[in-house]
Amino acid sequence: MRGYASWDDRHATMKSSSIFRENPEKTERWMVTNMWRLTPLLVSSLCITIFFTVVYHQNPFKSISDRNFLSLQPQIDPECDLFKGHWVRDKRGSLYTNSSCSTIPDSKNCFKHGRQDRDFLFWRWKPDGCDLPRFNPKAFLGLVRGKKMNFIGDSVARNHMESLLCLLSTEETPKDIYTDGEDRNRIWYFPNHDFTLSTSWTKFLVSEQERVDGNKKGTGVFDLDIGKIDEKWFKDLPNTDIAIVSAAHWFFRPIFIHRGDETVGCIYCNSPNMTQITPEEGFKLVYSALFKHILECEKCKEDLVTVLRTISPAHFENGTWDTGGACSRTNPFGESQIDLQSNEMKIRTAQIKQLEGVTKRHKKAKQFAVLDVTKVMLMRPDGHPNGNWGNKWMKGYNDCVHWCLPGPVDAWSEFLMAIIRRFS
Ligand SMILES: *[C@@H]1O[C@H](CO)[C@@H](O)[C@H](O)[C@H]1NC(C)=O
Ligand SMILES: *[C@@H]1O[C@H](CO)[C@@H](O)[C@H](O)[C@H]1NC(C)=O
Ligand SMILES: *[C@@H]1O[C@H](CO)[C@@H](O)[C@H](O)[C@H]1NC(C)=O
Repeated sequence: MRGYASWDDRHATMKSSSIFRENPEKTERWMVTNMWRLTPLLVSSLCITIFFTVVYHQNPFKSISDRNFLSLQPQIDPECDLFKGHWVRDKRGSLYTNSSCSTIPDSKNCFKHGRQDRDFLFWRWKPDGCDLPRFNPKAFLGLVRGKKMNFIGDSVARNHMESLLCLLSTEETPKDIYTDGEDRNRIWYFPNHDFTLSTSWTKFLVSEQERVDGNKKGTGVFDLDIGKIDEKWFKDLPNTDIAIVSAAHWFFRPIFIHRGDETVGCIYCNSPNMTQITPEEGFKLVYSALFKHILECEKCKEDLVTVLRTISPAHFENGTWDTGGACSRTNPFGESQIDLQSNEMKIRTAQIKQLEGVTKRHKKAKQFAVLDVTKVMLMRPDGHPNGNWGNKWMKGYNDCVHWCLPGPVDAWSEFLMAIIRRFS
């Protein structure tokens, strides 16, 4: 078994081996900058159940006026595993372009920054046992009429929100009603559908603090308290109807994990007396705490739907983020080309298990679903900006973590729509 990455302090980067079969032992370094802190890859178990929903008794998405929309979005056989399948050619391409969607962030506007190939837009995800309907903005807005949806997590959570925003903009122009200036917390409103779409920035979901040095500068070392949730996003949860939770990319650095006064252990630190834990263990601790906090949220709506979006894979090849690693492929991988033992698959399984574990024990009428993008996106090495992200201050570095808009990340909203439809 290839081990987990070790922390390379001097470069403040991560080392790990590659997910790619052709070079499995390759070391990868991971970028740690103000902009992104990235994930490593590796080792793991193949998986099993990819999608599960726990539906208790209530039915939050039903409303008589939206009945028509339901027919626009057919119910998929609930037995069908949406996330087991493959990418197939689809000549229809994307629902939007960089000229029809004015809200594409510059760093995801790959065509603007010189991406030449377009083939990667002409694929759709085909589950083995059923069809995943194409995204239908009218039907989606019908289903979420009067609702508040919040994407909670890091910059990849925001990437998904930005994709959904472009997809929905083809039906109704949203109003920009809040931005914190850094684009970390954002609120958009669709007045005709009374639908609120927002993003809440959180690196770890639970309460965190970065250690500072003598000059009050961040050291890149974090203390998490899994006994406390990160109130910055949690305070808005009572207003939320659909919460999509997903933080992952900051977990691969030195992190001390505490539960109140007790220190549970640490990830990538060299403290001799400290229990060393892997990032995967860290995920387990944080995600089980997260789901517990959500289930115990007294002020939250009874019919709050929580969607776990599993870890999104990166695709650096032929090097690491800082040694010229790139993702210049122009076609999807088939299933035989991806590493089902990858670290991301292992983390993804840990995330899902925590959700299953916590919800099984709980009787409260809360609803959960899994948006299991990990394996689906392992097959899309062609979906990242690579060098085409207009990076002014990091020239030469490639973004193989975030996803181009338009691009395969748009499929996440097709899954999301199918999930919401299952609750309606
Ligand atoms: C859209 O992409 C094209 C290249 O395909 C580029 O020339 C153009 O500047 C982009 N437009 C916007 C508004 O980003
Ligand atoms: C580790 O434990 C030993 C023995 O309990 C103690 O003497 C030492 O100070 C501890 N070191 C740290 C860094 O806490
Ligand atoms: C990696 O390097 C090989 C050999 O030079 C090349 O054929 C391949 O296209 C490269 N892959 C990427 C993603 O750049």
